[in-house]
Amino acid sequence: MSYLGVDLGTSGIRLLLTDDDGNPLASTERPLTVARPHPGWAEQDPAAWVMALDGAIDELRAAHPAFGGLKAIAVAGHMHGATLLDEVGTPVRPCILWNDTRSHAEASQMDALPVMRAQSGNIVFPGFTAPKLEWVRRNEPEVFARTARVLLPAAFLGLYLSGAYFSDRSDASGTSWLDVQTRDWSPDLLAAGAMRPDQMPRLVDGCQPAATLRPELAARWGLAGDVVIAGGAGDNAAAACGIGALAEGQGFVSLGTSGVLLVARDGCHPRPETAIHTFCHAVPGRWYQMGVMLSATDSLNWLSRLCGHAPAALVAALGQSLRKPGRTRFYPYLAGERTPHNDAAIRGAFTGLEVATDTQDLTHAVLEGVAFGLRDSAEALRAAGAPLAPLYAIGGGAASDYWLRLLATILDVPLLRPQSAEFGAAFGAARLARIAATGLPPESVIVPPEACERIEPDARLRPSFEAGYQAFREAYGTLRALP
Ligand code: XUL
Repeated sequence: MSYLGVDLGTSGIRLLLTDDDGNPLASTERPLTVARPHPGWAEQDPAAWVMALDGAIDELRAAHPAFGGLKAIAVAGHMHGATLLDEVGTPVRPCILWNDTRSHAEASQMDALPVMRAQSGNIVFPGFTAPKLEWVRRNEPEVFARTARVLLPAAFLGLYLSGAYFSDRSDASGTSWLDVQTRDWSPDLLAAGAMRPDQMPRLVDGCQPAATLRPELAARWGLAGDVVIAGGAGDNAAAACGIGALAEGQGFVSLGTSGVLLVARDGCHPRPETAIHTFCHAVPGRWYQMGVMLSATDSLNWLSRLCGHAPAALVAALGQSLRKPGRTRFYPYLAGERTPHNDAAIRGAFTGLEVATDTQDLTHAVLEGVAFGLRDSAEALRAAGAPLAPLYAIGGGAASDYWLRLLATILDVPLLRPQSAEFGAAFGAARLARIAATGLPPESVIVPPEACERIEPDARLRPSFEAGYQAFREAYGTLRALP
C-alpha cells in the first residue's frame, strides 16, 4: 500500500509517495510560474496546477509500481490564495496569491472592525483571502457576482481529485473568515466580508478522510478500490507535520520563498497585535503560531538575478567562517512585510554602501537582513508567549551552512537540520494521508526526524549581531518615512 503527499508550492508542485510505514518511495516535481500583471500583484492559473499535478502523477505511476497500491492522497498548498469558482466549479479569474498586496486598503478597513481580530485571532493582512474578495467586489463586480464558491489552492486540487468542496481547518485559518478558537466558519466574519456560508467549503481536520478519489481519475490512473482524499493542510501546517512539530514548543524556521518561524501550541492563544499568525493545526485540538516574512530566499534570488550568479555561488563566495556584521545592511522588504510590521507599502533597501562595497558584502547583507527579519518574528513569538526551543531548519535556504550559522547566531537559538532528505510539506501531507486512511493516532505518525545536525549560535559574534539587530530594528521608522 502507498500514500501520496502533494505540496502545491508557489514555484512548483512536488509529489511524494510513501510506503505503509511512511518511508519515502519516490518523488517528482513540476515548476510553476507566477504572473505579476501589476506591481504588487501575484496570480496563478488554477488550470496550471491541475496540468502540473496530472503530469507529475503520470510520471510517478509509470516509474513506480507502488503507485498502483495507492490508498490515500493529501494536498498541502500555499495559503490564502483566492480561487473564485462559478456554479459548476470553474475558476472565474486567476487565483490571487498569498504575496499579492493589491488589497491593502481593503485589509486595513476590515482590520479596523473589532470583530475581525476578536474572532479570526489575526490581523486581516492584505495577503489573506477576505480582503482579496472585497477587492474583487469593488473592482470586478461582475466577477464577484458570478462567484458561487471560494476555495484555497489546496482545496481546489481537492475538488479536482474528488469532486467535493472541502477545506482543512489549518488552511481555512488564513482566510479571515474562520473563528480559530471554535475552528468553524464565523457568520460574523463572513458577513463583514460580504460573503455567505453557502460559498464556503465543508470543514474537516487535515488528517481526517474528507472524500474519495473520482472514479474517472481512479480508472485513468489504474487504481482499484476507494482512494481516500484527506483534509490536507496549508503548507506551513503540513511542513510542521513533516518535521514532527505537533506538541507545545516544537517548531521550525523555514527559509523558503517566504520566511516562516513556527511553533506548535497545545491551546489557542491569539495575540494579533504582535502580527503573529495564530492558526489551527492540521490535527484536531491543536494550533500553531508563526511569524511570516514575505521575501526570504526571494531576496537572495533577487540579488542573484541582478548579479548574474546563482544563489549558491553567491553564498559559496563568502567562504566558511562567519563574518562580523558589515557596514552594508539590507532590509528585506521587497514585497512589503507581514510580521512584525503589517506594512504592504514598505519597500526594501541597502544602506551603508560605499565605493569599496563588493558583491560579497551585498550577499552577506542579504543573508543577514533575512535573518534579522526572522529575529523580528522570534521576538513577536516570545511576546505572544510561545516557547522557542531548538528549531528545525527547513526550506531551500537551509541547505546553506553559512546562512544557518548566521541565523542561529542572530536568533540565539540552536538549529537542527534533519539528515534525511524528506521532511517538508509533501512529506507532511503524505503523513496526513496515511493517518486518514489507517486511523492511526496522529502522535504516532507525526514525529521528529531521528538524525539531525545541530548548529549552535556563534557565542563570539553574538554581541556584534545583537547590536546589528537593534540598529536594523530602529531603521524601520526611517525606511517607512521614505517616499
Ligand atoms: C503563510 C504564507 C506563506 C504561504 C506560502 O501565511 O503566506 O507561507 O503559505 O508558502
